[in-house]
Amino acid sequence: MKTSNRLEGLKSAVFAELDEIKEEVAAGGLSIIDLSIGSPDMPPMPHIFHALQEAIDDLDNYGYPSSRGTRDLRETISWWYGQRFGVQLDPETEVLVLMGSQDGLGHMPLCLLDPGDIALVPDPGYPIYTAGVILAGGEVYHMPLKKENQYLPDFEKIPEDIAKRANMMILNYPNNPVAAVADSVFFDRVVEFASRYDIVVCHDVAYSELSFDGYRPPSFLESEGAIKVGVEFHSVSKTYNMAGCRLGFVVGNSEVIEALTRVKSNIDYGVFLPIQMAGITALRGPQDIIRRNAAAYKARRDILIDGLAKIGWVMDKPQATMFVWAPLPKGYTSSEKFAEDILRQTGVAVVPGVAFGRQGEGYVRIALVQDNAIIQEAVRRISDRFSF
Ligand SMILES: Cc1ncc(COP(=O)(O)O)c(C=O)c1O
Repeated sequence: MKTSNRLEGLKSAVFAELDEIKEEVAAGGLSIIDLSIGSPDMPPMPHIFHALQEAIDDLDNYGYPSSRGTRDLRETISWWYGQRFGVQLDPETEVLVLMGSQDGLGHMPLCLLDPGDIALVPDPGYPIYTAGVILAGGEVYHMPLKKENQYLPDFEKIPEDIAKRANMMILNYPNNPVAAVADSVFFDRVVEFASRYDIVVCHDVAYSELSFDGYRPPSFLESEGAIKVGVEFHSVSKTYNMAGCRLGFVVGNSEVIEALTRVKSNIDYGVFLPIQMAGITALRGPQDIIRRNAAAYKARRDILIDGLAKIGWVMDKPQATMFVWAPLPKGYTSSEKFAEDILRQTGVAVVPGVAFGRQGEGYVRIALVQDNAIIQEAVRRISDRFSF
């Protein structure tokens, strides 16, 4: 069978290899402590799944939903954005419901890029950013995220001809995989750069509610002029532990929202109504659950980082996300080799940084997706086998 050439660009050999090694290790009798995939391990709060159960019992909820999302949910999203970020949004033209933010991030390049157009994409970055551009026939220009720049792209280093040919830029703060954050001064610079070169900004803010130590991530749309140049992708997956429900949303510039609505209305019929209703319950309901959720991740972060520091493996404490971006310990130069060694010797699965792009080499990403006791066990196993 002949498959399309563009599929070649989507190979993610690193994840497939990791899965194979996990199977081998488990078959050898060592239990796997999986700190690789960023899927929330905690359940949604009872009021959210009760709302879902109730809506599922209602036989009126089984028709095709609209691909834009219900008016009720779009109004709720606009209200939530107002009270969380102080950003006012028109639910009719500036809000679109998504089947998870991944749906929007994956399809956005189809709206903005013609074959050969450039998208500015962070490296390291969440894999769908590059995959979406490749599927649309666009060209990726990687913006390196370096520790010495606080993992922010350096716009001055982007060549003028690239900036002129670029039609879209993807950003993600709080960031996966590097767990860095950005402030409003940076977002002001983004607006200035994007306006100068007429680039649409797509800001992925999936981790805006997973922050620690009193820090609260801003919205890109808080910056003056941001809504003229871009949109922001949000997710209920991490905020309310609803990853399997596949619900997210994109808000901001009405032309961009209209373009994505047009693409999506040709592809899907929207999110199952009971899930949209559960989303309304989540967004309108008590928000203290978000703080409790974040506190659980913070406790895990501290157990992991403080524990590994004792054997000389030192890493920065992130202010947000469910990830730790850990430099390779002394003696290692390949993130794949280190991830393999640690998995084979301890059963602890982490993702080699290179899986997120060339600039990710030199690091592994550790996801805080197991409870305190299991994270403690991971620290114990690593400490028994390694010292750095
Ligand atoms: C940075 C980032 N953006 C988007 C997503 C996709 O989230 P959703 O469940 O809303 O599709 C993820 C999921 O891990 C993510 O890490």
